[in-house]
Amino acid sequence: MDARHMKIIAAQEALKHVEHGMRLGIGTGSTAEEFVRLLAEKVAEGLEVRGVPTSERTARLCLELGVPLNSLDELPELDLTIDGADEVDNQLRLIKGGGGALLREKIVAAASARMIVIADESKVVDTLGKYPLPIEVNPFGLAATRIAVEKCASRLGLTGDIALRKRGEDAYETDGGHYILDASFGRISDAEALAASLYSIPGVVEHGLFINLASLAIIAGPQSARTIAV
Ligand code: 5RP
Repeated sequence: MDARHMKIIAAQEALKHVEHGMRLGIGTGSTAEEFVRLLAEKVAEGLEVRGVPTSERTARLCLELGVPLNSLDELPELDLTIDGADEVDNQLRLIKGGGGALLREKIVAAASARMIVIADESKVVDTLGKYPLPIEVNPFGLAATRIAVEKCASRLGLTGDIALRKRGEDAYETDGGHYILDASFGRISDAEALAASLYSIPGVVEHGLFINLASLAIIAGPQSARTIAV
């Protein structure tokens, strides 16, 4: 079974949680896109939902496939957000932002009554941190912010490369016009402490540690899906 098929299995399970009339946060990434494709089929059959996309990329796909969209300002309180993740632990702490949409993803998830994560078994870890942690930063003062991130991590015993994400020769720019630092810290034993500490740095706009946001993860394996709930 290929990776795409597992994403479809997770997306199919997630779709079962979508009800008529829901205000839906719609995530970003290849797994979330499988969900959008399935959702679009249901919409074509008559399911009524209003979607709030977490990125311009997701918005484009939704519009192309006929999923009705609103802005978060039009629908500031959402029933459910469905989104992918780069890592999930068994307490439903996540690393997100591999697709560069972490800021909007976190704002949308926080505005939702529930967040369901869709992923495959390769994303499940005992301890977060194998996947580099995306940290969205203001372009102003980039070098100073990178040093501050380094110092804050080192106080927590974390070291490793902190790389500016690139697109070709240029810095990768998020939908909000910010840059991303990908921090290869390895095992993050105290994700809560790191999250709080990163917020104390003025140039840090947001980080990819999603803690206490998801209430359910649908994890697809080669044969079927299982869930992790808190
Ligand atoms: C985007 C994200 C994605 O949800 C995450 O990168 C997972 O993507 P994929 O489903 O393609 O593996 O956080 O910012």
